[in-house]
Amino acid sequence: MKFLVLNGPNINMLGLREPAIYGRKTYQDLLSMVEEHAKEIGVEVLFYQSNHEGSLVDRIQQAYEENIDGIIFNPAAYTHTSIALLDALKAVGIPTVEVHISKVEEREDFRQISYVRKACIKTITGHGLKGYVEALDELVKQLSK
Ligand code: DQA
Repeated sequence: MKFLVLNGPNINMLGLREPAIYGRKTYQDLLSMVEEHAKEIGVEVLFYQSNHEGSLVDRIQQAYEENIDGIIFNPAAYTHTSIALLDALKAVGIPTVEVHISKVEEREDFRQISYVRKACIKTITGHGLKGYVEALDELVKQLSK
């Protein structure tokens, strides 16, 4: 099985950005953590991060061409604004788990809407970077059924 870990704007700034909310671990730490877990459970993971909405749409479309089995997606701020990302997920029909590092439901009002959620099989919030590993396990579980 082959998975795509897709991250939206400012996730490349992990470690530096608002550590009280997102912690001290870096984006590279996140990649290493997920990569290590993927090796342990014997699946392949690809990573992509972009600060641009259209590039994320392109990457989702490319995932279809690559026969990606599942997407672990933190759309970051685009979660709350992007119908284009929702439509891209619907277009490709790839099982997707939405991940947020922080507990978005306990934050500002403008973070309470998630457009992509409508195309996701599950949402994980507030589990820090561990949430990505949990999302991978969830996808493997669902796809092994
Ligand atoms: C986030 C939450 C979003 O509201 C925010 O814009 C982010 C990160 C999270 O992982 O907690 O950039 O998706």
